[in-house]
Amino acid sequence: MSDVARKRFAQGTAVVTGAAAGIGRGLAEHLGSLGMTVVVADIDEARAAAVAAEIVAAGGDADPYGVDVSDPDEVEAMAATLFDRHGSIELLINNAGVESAGLLWEIDPARWRRLMQINVDGVFYCVRSFVPRMLAAGTPACVANLSSVGGINTVAVQSPYIVSKFAVQAMTECLHQDLAVIGAPIQVSAVVPHSIRSEIFRAAQRDAPTANPTANAVFAAMQRDNEEKGLDPLAAAEHMIEQIAGGAFWVFSDDAMCRGAVDRRGEQLRTLSPPADPRAMLARMGVPLPEGSS
Ligand SMILES: NC(=O)c1ccc[n+]([C@@H]2O[C@H](COP(=O)([O-])OP(=O)(O)OC[C@H]3O[C@@H](n4cnc5c(N)ncnc54)[C@H](O)[C@@H]3O)[C@@H](O)[C@H]2O)c1
Repeated sequence: MSDVARKRFAQGTAVVTGAAAGIGRGLAEHLGSLGMTVVVADIDEARAAAVAAEIVAAGGDADPYGVDVSDPDEVEAMAATLFDRHGSIELLINNAGVESAGLLWEIDPARWRRLMQINVDGVFYCVRSFVPRMLAAGTPACVANLSSVGGINTVAVQSPYIVSKFAVQAMTECLHQDLAVIGAPIQVSAVVPHSIRSEIFRAAQRDAPTANPTANAVFAAMQRDNEEKGLDPLAAAEHMIEQIAGGAFWVFSDDAMCRGAVDRRGEQLRTLSPPADPRAMLARMGVPLPEGSS
């Protein structure tokens, strides 16, 4: 690790949403080890408390905060409480997010709404509650939003997630531009992970199981790949925080994989090509084509 993150994030307060598990947990633990006071914000208060306790046990400073980011009143109360307590927030990472499997026309409307409320509205609610307070504090700050390679390229059988991540990517670019209009000292970063070990696919199948066999097989394969080949969350956090500390807008978990995803999108738009043929992905994952499909 270079000195960039160590210097920039040696003090101040960071709020990480969805920090009780997976990527958020890795980010919170790493920021705690650098010296920031970390607010471990999550809908699962008990697990947030356990993660905060681990950061404290390792010599850091952390507090848990129970919040459902899809509720604008809860998010507003969190921002008010945290700015009262800490005076300023130097880093907000909008990480909380959920997945969902299925063919677009088979998605339960309640699941579609819930996913958009967490993945998209949740980011907007945090921006609208934290950014004005960051501006009033007047000190340099950063908002980093978790997009995804799924916010750059479309992927079959997970349309609500992909749509939500394209929205987060767009929202992050718009926030960058809107803050530039007023010349605010607030950095904006789009964090684009490829595969980092987490519970995201298992949680999706637990909370919103799909009856579609192809979607089930794809999610089982993605879960397996995530466990076998996904990056360690702490190592990924170190790499991503380093880029955020250096002021990057684009922040990758895995430089080659993420760069490849961005290049593919650029090439698709440049050549006006249709989206990639999903049958290649199914073959790679060993998922048979549905009956009747050729
Ligand atoms: N894991 C990957 O490979 C990967 C790749 C690309 C992008 N991402 C993105 O990274 C982020 C974190 O994903 P993860 O893989 O660590 O998932 P995860 O399921 O392991 O963790 C998500 C956390 O968010 C919390 N959460 C869920 N709903 C919430 C709500 N309404 N309010 C507050 N907290 C809530 C959960 O309790 C959990 O602790 C997501 O935005 C995801 O889209 C993950």
